[in-house]
Amino acid sequence: MMDLRLRGTRVLLGVTGSISAYKAVHLLRTFMSHGADVSVVMTQAATQFVTPLTFEVLSKHAVATDLFTGHENMPHLSLPESADIIVLAPCTANTIASYALGLANDLLSTLLLTTQCPVVIAPAMDGDMWEHAAIKGHVQVLRERGVVVLEPEVGELASGKIGRGRLPEEKTILNAVVETIRSFNDLAGHRMLISAGPTREPLDAVRFLSNGSSGKMGYALARAAEARGAEVILVSGPTNLDVPFGVELIAVNTAEEMFQALLSRFDSSTVLMMTAAVGDFRPRYVLDQKFKKRQWNGEPLELEPTTDILSALSARRTEQVLVGFAAETNDLIANGKEKLQKKRLDMVIVNQVGGPDSAFGNDTNEVAILTKNGQVNQLPRLAKHVLADKILDEIHTFTASSTVTPHESLSQ
Ligand code: CTP
Repeated sequence: MMDLRLRGTRVLLGVTGSISAYKAVHLLRTFMSHGADVSVVMTQAATQFVTPLTFEVLSKHAVATDLFTGHENMPHLSLPESADIIVLAPCTANTIASYALGLANDLLSTLLLTTQCPVVIAPAMDGDMWEHAAIKGHVQVLRERGVVVLEPEVGELASGKIGRGRLPEEKTILNAVVETIRSFNDLAGHRMLISAGPTREPLDAVRFLSNGSSGKMGYALARAAEARGAEVILVSGPTNLDVPFGVELIAVNTAEEMFQALLSRFDSSTVLMMTAAVGDFRPRYVLDQKFKKRQWNGEPLELEPTTDILSALSARRTEQVLVGFAAETNDLIANGKEKLQKKRLDMVIVNQVGGPDSAFGNDTNEVAILTKNGQVNQLPRLAKHVLADKILDEIHTFTASSTVTPHESLSQ
C-alpha cells in the first residue's frame, strides 16, 4: 500500500552547505513519494555541493537561492507563506547559529524570520562542532522556541573520524516531519490553565513552609501546549525557571493565592492541569515580624489545612477537563486511582517523589497516566519535555473523544 502520510503537505526544503547536501536529493524524492509538494531553497554554499538544477528538475519548481532576484515576488515572504512546514536538511552549524541569533544575511535565513509555520532541523556537521558549547546553546535556544532540532547520528564523518554529526536517517527525518505536522496547532482553541512549582506558607516575616518542587514539569507542559497552539496561563509558585515564550504567567506564593488565581480563570478554561505541589497545611498564626529564638518556649507549631484546590474547582466545573498530578512515595497506582475518584478528575498523572528518582527537581520523570475510564498507561522514564507532549497527546485524545470541545462552548 502506498504511504501518503504527507499528502497535500507543502514542504519547503532548505538545503545548506554540507557535504551531505547530496542526501537532500533523495530526501526530496521521499517527501514527494509520500504525497508532499516540495519547493527547495538553497544557500550559496549548498550550490557548491549540488546544483539547483537537480532539485529543480525533481521538484518541478524553480529553486530559490537569492534574496535579490525576483524581488517582485518577495521570495523571503512568499515562499514561507505557501509552505506548511520548513525542513532544513542538511543544516550546517552556520545556519543553526544564524537562525538562533535571528540574522538575515541570505534568503534562507531571512525567510526563517518571517515564517509562522513549524520548522524541523536535521543537522549535519563535524562531531566536535555539534559538541561545541556555542552550538549547544543555539540548539537549546531554538528548541525553546519550538523548533524541532533532531539529533545528528553517530557514524563515520566526512573527516573519516567517528562522531555524532551525521545527517539523521531519512526515516527519522520523515517521521519527525509527519509528527510535527500532526501536532502543530492541534491544541488551538484550548485555554489551558496550568499550575506549577511549590507553594510557600509563611510562618513569620522571613520563614515559610514549602517543598522541593522545581516547577519543571508544569513549565514543560506550558511550553509544549503553547507550541501546539493552546492559549496557556501558568499559575506558578516560586521557581527559578524562565517563563516560556507566549505563555501568560501569574506568579503566586501561597496555596490561597494560587487558588484565587486559578479560580479567576477557571470558568473560561477548557483544561486545568494541576502540576503544582500545593502545600496541604499552613501555620495557623503568621507573625508579621521575625520570630525571635528567645520567644519560643517549646510550644508546637499549629497548622491548619489549606483549600484542596482541585477538589474545589472540580465542584464548580462545567466542561473543563481536570488533570491532577499525584505525588506518591508508595502504592502509586492504588493511591492515584483513589485521588482520581475522590477529586472527580478526568486524568491523574502518578509520579514517584522521594528517593534518587524523585520527580521533584529531576529533568526526567517516570509516570503512569490513569484516566477515569479505567485506563492505566505506564510510560518509561522520559525527559520532562518529551513527557509533556505525551501527556498533551492523552489530553487531546481525551477531549476529542469526549463531549468537551475547545473554548467556544464555554462562557467567554
Ligand atoms: N492539590 C490541590 N490542592 C491541595 C493539594 C493538592 O489542588 N491543597 C492537587 C495537586 O496539585 C495535585 C493533586 O491535588 O494535582 C494531588 O496532590 P497530592 O499532593 O499528590 O495529593 P494530596 O491531595 O495532597 O493528598 P495526600 O497528601 O494524601 O497525598
